[in-house]
Amino acid sequence: MAFVLLFVYAFVGATHTKAEEGAAAWLRYAPLDVEAARHYESLPAATGLLGDGLVLKTAQTELVRGLKSMLGRTLRIGSGIPTEEAVLIGTLAQLRDVAPDLKPQQELRGDGFWLTSAQVHGHRCIVILGANDRGALYGVFTFLSRIARHLSVSGLNEVQQPSAPVRWANQWDNLDGTIERGYAGRSIFFENGSVRTDLTRVSDYGRLLASVGINGCTVNNVNADLRVLDVDFIPQLARIAQAFRPWGVQLGVSVDVSTPKTLGGLDSFDPLDVRVAEWWQKKFDELYRAIPDFGGVVVKADSEGRLGPSFYGRTPADAANVIARSLRPHNGIVFYRAFVYNHHLDWTNLKNDRAKAAYDIFHPLDGKFDDNVIVQIKYGPIDFQVREPASPLFGGLQKTNSAIELQITQEYTGQQRHTCFLVPTWKQVLDFDMRVDGRSTPVEEIVAGNSFHRPIGGYVGVVNVGLDHNWLGNHLALANLYGFGRLVWNPNLTPESIIEEWTRMTFDNDPLVVRTISEIQLASWRTYESYTGVLGLQTLTNILGSHYGPGPESQEKNGWGQWIRADSQGVGMDRSIATGTGFVGQYSNDVQNIYEPLASTPDALVLFFHHVPYTYKLHSGKTVIQTIYDSHYDGVESTNRFVAEWKSLHGLIDGARYQDVLAQLTYQSGHAVVWRDAINDWFHRISGIADVKGRVGNHPDRIEAESMLLEGYTPMDVNPWEGASGGKAIQCTDTKQPCTVIIRFAGSSGWYALDIQYFDQNNGVSKYQVFVGNQLVDEWIADLHLPATEPNGDSSTRRHISGMALRPGDEIRIEGIPDAGEFAPLDYVEIHKMELISPAR
Ligand code: GCU
Repeated sequence: MAFVLLFVYAFVGATHTKAEEGAAAWLRYAPLDVEAARHYESLPAATGLLGDGLVLKTAQTELVRGLKSMLGRTLRIGSGIPTEEAVLIGTLAQLRDVAPDLKPQQELRGDGFWLTSAQVHGHRCIVILGANDRGALYGVFTFLSRIARHLSVSGLNEVQQPSAPVRWANQWDNLDGTIERGYAGRSIFFENGSVRTDLTRVSDYGRLLASVGINGCTVNNVNADLRVLDVDFIPQLARIAQAFRPWGVQLGVSVDVSTPKTLGGLDSFDPLDVRVAEWWQKKFDELYRAIPDFGGVVVKADSEGRLGPSFYGRTPADAANVIARSLRPHNGIVFYRAFVYNHHLDWTNLKNDRAKAAYDIFHPLDGKFDDNVIVQIKYGPIDFQVREPASPLFGGLQKTNSAIELQITQEYTGQQRHTCFLVPTWKQVLDFDMRVDGRSTPVEEIVAGNSFHRPIGGYVGVVNVGLDHNWLGNHLALANLYGFGRLVWNPNLTPESIIEEWTRMTFDNDPLVVRTISEIQLASWRTYESYTGVLGLQTLTNILGSHYGPGPESQEKNGWGQWIRADSQGVGMDRSIATGTGFVGQYSNDVQNIYEPLASTPDALVLFFHHVPYTYKLHSGKTVIQTIYDSHYDGVESTNRFVAEWKSLHGLIDGARYQDVLAQLTYQSGHAVVWRDAINDWFHRISGIADVKGRVGNHPDRIEAESMLLEGYTPMDVNPWEGASGGKAIQCTDTKQPCTVIIRFAGSSGWYALDIQYFDQNNGVSKYQVFVGNQLVDEWIADLHLPATEPNGDSSTRRHISGMALRPGDEIRIEGIPDAGEFAPLDYVEIHKMELISPAR
């Protein structure tokens, strides 16, 4: 076939404005300056395709788009054997027909690819070859990523293989358009019970996923809506599959095991009932007629109130296999989630332990699951906490395929209002050596199928992007989606290299930008941990509510089993074999030797595994209680540093994203104070032990709102008490009238900064005005839509006003104007003396 040359005006990348809203994420393809672009002058002016598959065509379009955007050059598009220098795209099999002698030095498998330079039919070519079409697309993204990062593309000879065949995203979208644990707007897939008419964002999402090697996506909540398999819904799903298809992303859905009965009209959903098996078979035959490349299903059963096989005395293997057998003829997979536990545990029984559930239930079933079933295991034994040990179940399934489930959406890690780059924690879990049978069996090798020679396995990330322009509601949070893809493609990559790549592509190649953003991101998980859940305490959030702000009491004395067992003497769950719940016994002997003895348990997880007195001295030499206090203060300092570091990038980043991130990091530094005080006050009260540095419960610059002169404001108790300073706040008595507090300034003359701690609920938009004497010095509205309808640790936030000249006797007046259900609540004011020439914070 002749190499047909055509001139095309490639579709230019996202517009400048759109890109700066964050929609383009790391695929901005920012134009290179003249100097940087010079290195790519010798790139061929044409591109050829060796095949005609849909995904290959996408690869070529993407190549043209990227080069046009970055280098301002429009490649000539052709196909077949090159008649000039070209970037050739295809599969290894296709290359064989054109250039039989050209082979990579390594075998190409799965979705792998090879980037190289070679003479093809006498023309110098850059060759981008996949083991399959998808691999070629991944090769193109990698090639473009190199240019975006100003790396050389001449003389390339690089083979990349994914670490595992399964690299899926899960979305927890509901058919009504809401998203369970989604923090970035409504669903890109569904609205009002149907698939959206406009699926542009779905195709854009497919592109983002493909760019980091993610090859499948389930689109609806694991708490599955039965209608997803309805006869009317399947054609709608087919439209989503169509939007994903050009990107090599297979569609999957979550299904409910009771569907044969509840939707199908049978009188049973017993997995061993032949009628049930027939129902599943017919259903999936029907589905595959509409979506021949459908990937598979996720199943959540017998968990958190969902029906499951236990209803009929059957096992998860029975439930998984009946569905798997109906998928097998179509090459589909069942992801059966191991997140099965009793949430009505008796907390008074010290032997009870939710952490044991997954292993107790699934380990005895090892070998009983069909080959197209993957047991999908959350990384830790509880539930996406800020730090957990690796789930022992990874070592407990040797004759069963497994995948690790990671959470990109920051349910327990700040809900994208706090920056928390999770790759370092995932990396720790993946690198953790389960030491099964005394040999090296790191989690990453187990889920890849290598340790126990399993045919499939891999990775699932719960993403929950929404309609927000920047996908996750926080520009910095996108590093978690990027990082998930990159890390699961190659778990040997370091968090440092991943964040550097992401920063260069998302923001800029400027060394200061790269260094500063990388530093913030790399420090962010430990920072978040330091003020929300140190020493393996899990995230001490309100687990009965939003999972967002502080709420340590909510862990205790209920059936959910996230207990930390704090009392006046000590804290921590004793999970040892000798005296505790025996959870440690679910690990191999070598791992037991780390976690069973208190002395060898790392400080970072000590309270996950042991109950100790507050005065117990850690490896660090500090007591438990002082570590808790100090780390919360350190955490706040670190969030303040993030703000200062970010400010050093002023002018180096486009204005919109600079301001967005500044606002987000500033908010985070204020909410870190809320967390710090809540957790420290709580432990102070329960332990009765003072902070040796005298900070806890002692805030000399702070004036409680309830102690100010109130006009129209009434004091109230906040619940739980630790969500407000002193357990109290004030709010307007008359919900329609403005109300006022007055502070008579008693300090010396000088420059001051004010921190006004108030509550921003999602059921009203109150307005606040601050006056000194008659002069209005600041005003704002409370419209952050924090996840609360009352004043508490979720809604508590602060306004910072700096550079105020105050004299003794000055009257500071704050006026609150209530709105709807929000009565302009206030917690306290802090007045800080500023240095003579003090940079704004
Ligand atoms: C968490 C989360 C739920 C979710 C569940 C799951 O408990 O809070 O919203 O349904 O995990 O993973 O199934």
